Amino acid sequence: MGGNRTYTMVKPTAMRKGYMAAIMNKITEGGFKIIAAKMTKLSLAEAETFYAIHNERPFFGELTEFMSSGPIMAIVVEKENAVEAYRDFIGATNPEEAKDGTIRKLFGTNMGENAVHGSDSDENAKIEMNYFFNDRDIF
Ligand code: CMP
Repeated sequence: MGGNRTYTMVKPTAMRKGYMAAIMNKITEGGFKIIAAKMTKLSLAEAETFYAIHNERPFFGELTEFMSSGPIMAIVVEKENAVEAYRDFIGATNPEEAKDGTIRKLFGTNMGENAVHGSDSDENAKIEMNYFFNDRDIF
């Protein structure tokens, strides 16, 4: 059983399309408690740091340019076994393969612009939430 917190963010295309509030609503309705939230924008260098684990992948340039192309909403959520529960809840990375009713199916555009990020392990969740929030900003 994993920890009870994970990191997510609403990605730039979903922000541009005006889905921010609808996505946050869906997260809450799914039983995840939002314990930190901040609208911000990553520079290209910051996106490269955040996604450093993917720096060997062919899509790294596309991913980091996209993630620094506009504002994002950075969020920490709380629920039992949060990392796994949240990844299940948002659906497959590719919105076309995501189950009906999931955030990525409802609000995603394509593989890169897939509406939301979700941490893939407890270890990465800690690193990612600490990247955006101080302890005093998490409630
Ligand atoms: P995310 O959960 O933010 O973590 C890494 C991201 O890389 C992932 O969501 C996708 O948006 C993106 N990604 C994964 N595979 C591809 C791909 N083949 N082409 C473009 N982007 C990808």
